[in-house]
Amino acid sequence: MKKRYVQVGVGGRSEMYTKAILQTFPKESELVGLCDNNRGRMELRNRLIVGKYKGRPVPMYSDTEFDRMIHAQKPDVVIVTTRDCFHDRYIIRAMELGCDVITEKPMTTDEKKCQRIIDTARRTGCRVRVTFNYRYSPPRTQVKDLLMRGVIGKVLSVDFSWLLNTSHGADYFRRWHREKKNSGGLMVHKATHHFDLVNWWLSASPVEVFAMGARRFYGAGNGMAEKLGLKGHAERCLICRCQKRCKFYLDLKKKVCLENMYSGLKAMYLDCERYDGYFRDRCVFGKTMDIEDTMNLVVRYNTGAFMSYSLNAFTPWEGYQVAFNGTRGRLEHDCVESVYISGDGRVQGETIPNGTKIRLYPHFKPARNIAVAVAKGGHGGGDYPLLADIFSSHPHRDPYMRTADVAGGAMSILTGVAANKSMRTGRPVRIASLVKRLPTVKMTSMKEW
Ligand SMILES: NC(=O)c1ccc[n+]([C@@H]2O[C@H](COP(=O)([O-])OP(=O)(O)OC[C@H]3O[C@@H](n4cnc5c(N)ncnc54)[C@H](O)[C@@H]3O)[C@@H](O)[C@H]2O)c1
Repeated sequence: MKKRYVQVGVGGRSEMYTKAILQTFPKESELVGLCDNNRGRMELRNRLIVGKYKGRPVPMYSDTEFDRMIHAQKPDVVIVTTRDCFHDRYIIRAMELGCDVITEKPMTTDEKKCQRIIDTARRTGCRVRVTFNYRYSPPRTQVKDLLMRGVIGKVLSVDFSWLLNTSHGADYFRRWHREKKNSGGLMVHKATHHFDLVNWWLSASPVEVFAMGARRFYGAGNGMAEKLGLKGHAERCLICRCQKRCKFYLDLKKKVCLENMYSGLKAMYLDCERYDGYFRDRCVFGKTMDIEDTMNLVVRYNTGAFMSYSLNAFTPWEGYQVAFNGTRGRLEHDCVESVYISGDGRVQGETIPNGTKIRLYPHFKPARNIAVAVAKGGHGGGDYPLLADIFSSHPHRDPYMRTADVAGGAMSILTGVAANKSMRTGRPVRIASLVKRLPTVKMTSMKEW
């Protein structure tokens, strides 16, 4: 029998799930409802379903009609891809109404919401899956495999820096993400991916976090707009007189190709503004933002490992450098990602040829490069294997345990939540002080010698 799915939040990210249900896994799955506070985007999704995927229009429900949708459509699973700050609302209500949940990262944005999700999952017995596509990216799975096999012994420390460039990185300062009340800031919204990778790579859980961060590049009042000759800029690109000379100008009206007509920036955001007043092109040097663009932290894990981590959102290239220092050597892994912004029709976070490297430095032996597993498609090639794991009726047995549940989802955000608190208070924050009754995180065993 086909599994019945509904989707809540039909913006940029959600199309991947619509496509998986209608095009890639139609024998196993069926889309029976859409829910969003923006009627225009739901109608657009139905045009995509009919025009591109040759399906039938799906019933649409506003955000206040979620319960009505569940009662009428009787889904097995609710897929949550709304703004981060609303994830908890739908995850919890879906479970209370007897549905399993697939949610995009971050599972939620703060410790109170996280606690309510943990408690509801425990009470209802429903299943929550957090879709950490980064775990499924072939080179990142390869790093897990090497660490699991103990090639550098027990990992004692990690150096991790993630770079967000002036294209994709800047985009967080245009959209709803720029306010912490919506996204939890980049420590939660973005770094949940990175902290999840470390938890999973090391089979470890964070214990204590100390962080410092600020906004130094984007926003008003730091002189950057003036230095770049953008004095007198407007609060959004559409009406800005600096359009021609601004490297951060985003053209929402840009003509789109046929392929992109159901999901380009114009169709998805500009044409839908009249329903919710949301502007997708706010000025990156505007006033109403409170997230950081420069963040540094130290984390202690329950395995005894330490991590130093940095996230900068204004760099010339995008990707990351991570190094693991172990009792038998050091493993370095670098990755350069392609240039894109969410919703512009390009593949998101694709790795570029020769941009991914893995190098092993055993103690007392020569270093060597490791041939990197090939990755194609969105988010380091992680999107498709993730979808196969979710929607296929016969998912492969996974020695790397890449499926993430409530506990994994919680652990990945709690480092960022603790970092936010540490940046506010100037003190280290213990993870155990944030939530209680956390279920055990399922992890692979690690060979240490
Ligand atoms: N795993 C990844 O690599 C990845 C990539 C991009 C986005 N995401 C996640 O996907 C989610 C959506 O991001 P996006 O880029 O599609 O954003 P978006 O702004 O394009 O879409 C969000 C959608 O949610 C709707 N919405 C807002 N408030 C709502 C409410 N109260 N009830 C119902 N719907 C509401 C909006 O109208 C919009 O259609 C976010 O949680 C984001 O973190 C994950």
